[in-house]
Formats: sequence, structure tokens, C-alpha cells
Amino acid sequence: MADLVYSPGLEGVVAGETAISTIVGGLEYRGYAVEQLAEHATFEETAYLLLYGELPSPKELGEFRARLEAAQVAEPILQTLRALPSDASMMDVMRTGASMLAHWDPDTADNSRDANLRKAERLLAQLPVILAAAQRLREGKEPVLPQPGLSLAANQLFMLTRVEPSPAWERAMDISLILYAEHEYNASTFTARVICSTLSDLHSAVTGAIGALKGPLHGGANERVLEVLQKVGSSDRAEGWIRNALASKQRIMGFGHRVYKDGDPRAAYLKAWCAKLAAETGHEDMEQMADVIEGIVREEKKLPPNLDWPSARLYHYLNLPVELYTPLFVVSRVAGWSAHVIEQLSNNRLIRPRANYTGPVTRQFVPLAERK
Ligand code: CMC
Repeated sequence: MADLVYSPGLEGVVAGETAISTIVGGLEYRGYAVEQLAEHATFEETAYLLLYGELPSPKELGEFRARLEAAQVAEPILQTLRALPSDASMMDVMRTGASMLAHWDPDTADNSRDANLRKAERLLAQLPVILAAAQRLREGKEPVLPQPGLSLAANQLFMLTRVEPSPAWERAMDISLILYAEHEYNASTFTARVICSTLSDLHSAVTGAIGALKGPLHGGANERVLEVLQKVGSSDRAEGWIRNALASKQRIMGFGHRVYKDGDPRAAYLKAWCAKLAAETGHEDMEQMADVIEGIVREEKKLPPNLDWPSARLYHYLNLPVELYTPLFVVSRVAGWSAHVIEQLSNNRLIRPRANYTGPVTRQFVPLAERK
């Protein structure tokens, strides 16, 4: 073992190859800068790009959207959502939902590329339905099914509220989904790849990935960010709060990144949308509060914000309940996870690293009757 290198948290370790995205010199999906995709593409085009490797032609996009519209959530799944405890974490509901979808998917056990593409497309359409249905049931309302002709982003907002969003709100949601869709070998994607490397299946990989995403050091950070901003309350309290939090060595949610040490390009892009929506919805003071905190964390800790810092505010301005923020990350990232599962299986090798043993040295077994 002496010649094997150990890096805690696998920091700096190259654990595989991918043609799906790179974070070197900015974030690119299949060679396209994420800012360009956010500026010019839709989430559907982005998901297609991640899954198929190329941007769709108008015809391909039309057919893709038609397949998304045709995907349905089986009635027993919606019935089961009614039976879940009303205080269950929404990420647990999403994890259960992804797992249940496997039971009604005609291709669950088929690991061929074509079957995995069909399953991935269905998950892209089904997970938003599960998220909205679970939330409405929790509010004592009946689920609303997707409306044909609407984009995934518009439908997500529509299914939650039964109101079609304005073009600006649809676009804001769409952009957040584009920015969350893919991010190289992050913890949840790596989880998905480990699971499918055993020749398990796509639904198992996505279910496990949701579990990994839930934690506050990964996707769960966006919910913690809003809780912090709400606790601070107003911009005039921001400086006192952040200086105190840093002095007491608190970890500030929404800041820092394992790989981006000079800043997360997604955060910079989304900040402008936060300002736009804040002005439209009367949340200018929260933007001001965020600016004060951001400036001090940069100055004191040299830590730039990550995507969860602006996305939490954006979702708040879109009037979304905080417990939906990480589930929305799921709705988007399922595109990246699925692309990684397909890529892993195209050239699979079981992912099975080694560990440095730190337990007791070899000792003699003592039979139960002789143990004190
Ligand atoms: N607040 C305060 N200090 C921090 C933070 C933070 N958010 N992030 C890192 N540090 C400090 C940390 O205390 C340590 O300082 P010292 O060397 O003095 O002990 C140093 O920076 C290195 O920290 P680390 O935990 O070893 O760094 P890491 O590469 O493991 O951290 C991270 C990456 C994302 C886990 C961490 O920055 C963090 O916990 N951030 C807050 C949670 C968060 O926003 N997560 C979302 C990540 S991006 C979206 C996603 O992928 O889900």
C-alpha cells in the first residue's frame, strides 16, 4: 500500500474521464460555455445536449419535447405520495419518488444506451410532477398535472401554483435549471457513477445520487442559504451578523468550493437575475443584505460565493417554499446524472478504490463463552 497515494475527500484526485463537462477555465457542457447556454438556450436544449452530445435541431427538439410531454407518473405513485408523513423532508420524498418510478418504468432493468436515454427522458418529465404533487398535497391541495405546450420550467411553476408564470419568471427558472444541470465529478454524480459501475440501473443511480445531493455541503446548501438570510433579516444587520459568524468560525453556506477557488461562474451569472427579480418583487433589501455579506466574506476569508448563494434568493423571489430548493436541483441535475450513467456504461470498469487500514493489528479470535 505504501506506493498508493491517499488524498482525504479524494481532493485533487482524477477519478475518471468524461466528455460531458469540464470546469477547467470556466464551466462548459459538451464544449459550450454555461453562460452561453444560459443566455441563449432552454433547459430542454441543455438536457438534450448533455444526453445526446449535440444541441438539437428544431426537429429533434420538437420530438424531444413531445416525448417529455408523453411521460406520465403512474397513479399508484401519486397515491403513495399521499401516504407519506406530511413532515417528511422533500428530498426524502424525491428519493422515494425516483425509486418508485423504477417499478412502473418498462425499461428499468435494461442497461442499453437506448433504454437509458428513454428512462432519462422520462425522469426529466416525471420528477417535476412528483415535486409539485408532493408539495400541493402538503398544502392540502390536489396535484396539478403538467400542461401540454409549456416548457419544463414553466410547467414546474404551473404545477405548483396552477398559474402560468410570466415570461420573466419562466426564464429565471429555466436559467437556474440550466446552471444546475451538470458539474463534472461532484459528489452526487460520482455516487451515480459508482452505482451504475456495478451494472445496477439508472433509477438506482439517480436514487442514490439524490441521497448524496441532500447534504448541506452539496445541494442542501441552497436551503441553508435562505434560512441564514431570513435569520439576518435586513441589510442593516448584515455586517454585524457576518462579522460575528466569521469570528465564531461558522461555515457560511453558499460560499467556497472544492474546485473553483477564484469564483463559481454560475454564481456570477445568476446574480444579475437576482437583482432583476428582486426589483420586480420588492426584495431589494435582501439583495443589499447579500451584497454586504458577500463583500465581507470575500474580504475576510477570500471565499467567493457558489451557485447556491444566488439561487436561494432567486427561488425566494419566485415565491417558492424553501424546502423545494434542493429538490429543484434534482429536477435539473437528473440530466447530468443520466448523461454520466450512460457514459460510464459505455466504457464501464467497476469503481472500487482502496483504503488505508487504520484498525487493530492481527489478533486471535476469542470464543463467545470465554469473553469477559
Ligand atoms: N465558510 C467558512 N469557511 C469556509 C467555507 C465556508 N463556506 N468554505 C471553506 N471554508 C474554509 C474552511 O473553514 C477551511 O479553513 P481552514 O483552512 O482555516 O480550516 C478552508 O476554507 C478549507 O475548507 P474545506 O472544508 O477543507 O474546503 P473544501 O474544499 O472541502 O470545501 C465546501 C468545499 C463546498 C464543502 C466548503 O466550501 C463549504 O462547506 N461550503 C459551504 C457549503 C456550500 O455552500 N456547499 C455548496 C457547494 S457548491 C454547490 C454544490 O456542488 O452542491
